[in-house]
Amino acid sequence: MKMGGGPKQFGIDVEQVPELLAAIKTAGLQFAGFHIFSGSQNLKAESICEAQQKSYELALSLAQHTPEPIRFLNLGGGFGIPYFPGEQALDLAMIGQNLKQIAARAAQEMPEAELILELGRYLVGEAGIYVTQIVDRKISRGQTFLVVDGGLNHHLAASGNFGQVIRKNYPVAIGNRMGQGEKETVSIVGPLCTPLDLLADRMELSVAKPGDFVVIFQSGAYGASASPQGFLGHPEVIEVLV
Ligand SMILES: Cc1ncc(COP(=O)(O)O)c(C=O)c1O
Repeated sequence: MKMGGGPKQFGIDVEQVPELLAAIKTAGLQFAGFHIFSGSQNLKAESICEAQQKSYELALSLAQHTPEPIRFLNLGGGFGIPYFPGEQALDLAMIGQNLKQIAARAAQEMPEAELILELGRYLVGEAGIYVTQIVDRKISRGQTFLVVDGGLNHHLAASGNFGQVIRKNYPVAIGNRMGQGEKETVSIVGPLCTPLDLLADRMELSVAKPGDFVVIFQSGAYGASASPQGFLGHPEVIEVLV
């Protein structure tokens, strides 16, 4: 998800920054540093390295306009996690090497600057699971639906309605039947009266029945906090820290 470059609702256009820095000086405000955020959910280490290099170069070129030395340089985040089939975990070694080079340069070129990374889902996404209980099993024209007691109201991202262009299934399992041999193809749907309330579309899962628990992995980021919990008045999700 690209969040920098071109016309954007975020931040300050680069070409306006020198004027802004001058205004900061005139106003007698204390300048601390730059916060540059170029995107989110990136699984290509090379493009994260490129974005970090470019962000560093940008800050360096703007340093000539700053009223005081740069004390903080936030290079953003963007470290993705694998959600969908075929996606690979990020190659951190390459990013580490790149940051080492940037840090060595910064030590010379902006010695007062503390370098900052701003990670979200990479820190917590894989640490959280969403659990919802099957309340009904329905067969409609040959397709099996397992209806659960929570849906897009608790986990908008897993329903595919939070930035996905083509809907894909999050990793899902029947939590109390892990390793069970017998499988079937089912769709997991929430209790809301909208076809958007779909948590898994025709996935092969362990055969399950009402009372069983559906688990959605990779749910520690952009879960409850990114979901419309008030929509249709169902109970709110319960968050448990273990
Ligand atoms: C300014 C800023 N910082 C951090 C994040 C966290 O991003 P992510 O969860 O992709 O690491 C975002 C997400 O959009 C953001 O806009």
